[in-house]
Amino acid sequence: MDKKVIKIDFDTIDISKEEPITEPERQYYFIAKARALVKKKADELGRTLTCKVTTFGCQMNQKDSEKLLGILELVGYEQAETEKADFVIYNTCTVRDNANQKVYGRLGYLNGVKRENPNMLIALCGCMMQESEVVEKIKKSYSFVDIIFGTHNIFKFAELLYTRLQSERMVIDIWKGTNDIVEDLPTERKYSFKAGVNIMFGCNNFCSYCIVPYVRGRERSRNPKDIIREIEDLASQGVVEVMLLGQNVNSYGKSLEDPMTFAQLLQEIEKVDGIERIRFMTSHPKDLSDELIEVMKHSKKICKHMHLPLQSGSTRILEKMNRSYTKESYLELAQKIRKAIPDISITTDIIVGFPGETDEDVEETIDVVKKVRYDSAFTFIYSKRSGTPAAVMEGQVPEEINKERFDRLLSVVQQISREMTQRFSDQEVEVLVEEENQQDASLVTGRMSNNIIVHFKADKSLIGKIVKVKLLECKGFYYMAELI
Ligand code: SAH
Ligand code: SF4
Ligand code: F3S
Repeated sequence: MDKKVIKIDFDTIDISKEEPITEPERQYYFIAKARALVKKKADELGRTLTCKVTTFGCQMNQKDSEKLLGILELVGYEQAETEKADFVIYNTCTVRDNANQKVYGRLGYLNGVKRENPNMLIALCGCMMQESEVVEKIKKSYSFVDIIFGTHNIFKFAELLYTRLQSERMVIDIWKGTNDIVEDLPTERKYSFKAGVNIMFGCNNFCSYCIVPYVRGRERSRNPKDIIREIEDLASQGVVEVMLLGQNVNSYGKSLEDPMTFAQLLQEIEKVDGIERIRFMTSHPKDLSDELIEVMKHSKKICKHMHLPLQSGSTRILEKMNRSYTKESYLELAQKIRKAIPDISITTDIIVGFPGETDEDVEETIDVVKKVRYDSAFTFIYSKRSGTPAAVMEGQVPEEINKERFDRLLSVVQQISREMTQRFSDQEVEVLVEEENQQDASLVTGRMSNNIIVHFKADKSLIGKIVKVKLLECKGFYYMAELI
């Protein structure tokens, strides 16, 4: 059965009947119910109700936020530019402590907004809500929040929203985990021409510093048929680029009834007409196969970009991080990728300040940066996440020491990144035009296959199209170009 959510007429759902038990039909029913209440409220106020979804964290969260917005729009809310809206939802992240602090800070501001708008509802969801201390703190100190839910039951948003619209009480629903994947929920995409596609949820790796497996649960792969159907649907709506999302895409398919490798999935996606670019993230080095490198090498659609988180270049630290590779095996892998696909960009994530890290360990990391020559790298200072094994390890490194090491690493990363970006000067390349340039409206901004940003003079009508440009001037981490 080909269920295309967009085609459901929510006004024809009989909301006088009892709620369905199966998903997603149950949520369609609650969308219809909430819609009736929101319409009534809008009629009373004589205006459309507005909503704002604010996302913290990674692309998984961004994707989840698109689902939330899809539901809110069907329920009858119109997207607002600011958080002065009738429904504000924070989709939170807890990967580092500063992500948490940002949420608490902004909640104070939201409380003020709510005092001025008695109709306002505030919801919190996402990774932070999977931590019981956080939920306790919100119940105690932020009691103006209306709805709290977690990462496993995001599909239930319409039902929770309806429950809150019907009562005056705070609605809290957090699940410890789930084995289910609910398909066919509505989404509201940010871009018309590119889209994120979940291929798996959760993570089984338990890197010792990382909270993600605790807040996102065990690894679950989506059925390839569902993924392909979604991508075909996206292509029919004009999407030309898909970003496949998972915490460790290289282990895709292992838990399926009919196991399938990530490389095989990519080959299936490659067959979808209309899709011209395929990206993915993130690749864990321990599971990256030769098969994947082969498939990428011969593919016309898979982008020449590999995000390959290193975390540390010291084998001793990598072992304590539970990353399951060594400095040498990582270097070998990076070399193999560069050799097979010479114009590929390799990017990475690095953590400075893991417990017990010494100056020598940081030098090992810098050595890997110099050998791999990353096109770009995200560098983070280690943040202690309670509940993870690293949080109770000995040798937590003082902040001032980390700061100095971080700066030392960053200057090498940036120097190399500039040199690497430069290597495409004077080339003619294809870019996907993504938006009008934010500083200069006569320019548009696009992205090369290897993820480098390019600005050039062109008409906005090219947004969403892949065009050829000549790279003229490298400005550090991006290019100025001309249309050819
Ligand atoms: N699944 C991805 C990473 C997701 S989290 C992977 O394994 O590569 C994104 C990045 O946040 C990680 O790569 C890591 O560099 C960083 N990170 C995760 N936990 C952290 C912590 N406790 N402190 C600092 N950085 C952290
Ligand atoms: Fe976290 Fe490691 Fe899983 Fe990435 S692979 S999400 S760093 S536990
Ligand atoms: Fe943050 Fe959750 Fe992503 S903790 S990085 S939003 S999976």
